[in-house]
Amino acid sequence: MPHEKLARNEKIEVVKLTAPLIAFALILTGCKSTPPPKPLSELTPTERSGRAVYSARCGACHNDRVDKPLNGPSLLGLYKKPYLPSGAPANDDRITNTIQHGRNNMPALGDTISAEETSDLLAYLKTL
Ligand code: HEC
Repeated sequence: MPHEKLARNEKIEVVKLTAPLIAFALILTGCKSTPPPKPLSELTPTERSGRAVYSARCGACHNDRVDKPLNGPSLLGLYKKPYLPSGAPANDDRITNTIQHGRNNMPALGDTISAEETSDLLAYLKTL
């Protein structure tokens, strides 16, 4: 009997110790924001030209370096999050598709944006 009681107390002790640790780990992972964008001074030439494409073609409707929506959702951390705001996976195919065909209130850019502009743009979006 005393032996059983001891074992039970030990278990309670373990729970008391680990519960706050688990809660703390959940808080850390749950509130983890995406890493900051690459500093502008460190952009490669390709990323810099992608930024110019962003400014000309996307900047009126999307923020890039602050997490605030404009006409559309902010593009900050676009590739660092697993999903786009629509729930589609955040990858080159889906993002290129959105740029070319538009989405709801986002106009289709179609062939007004070249393949090179698109790939430079994606390179810049990956730095965000
Ligand atoms: C005229 C405004 C406008 C312009 C210009 C524009 N967008 Fe959008 N964009 C939107 C709106 C509005 C949405 C939200 C669409 C929705 O899901 O209802 C959106 C959504 C998106 C999404 C999220 C798609 C998803 O699946 O959730 C991406 C990525 C995106 N835009 C990228 C771009 C890029 C890159 C450019 C520049 C080439 C661009 N947009 C230009 C208005 C715009």
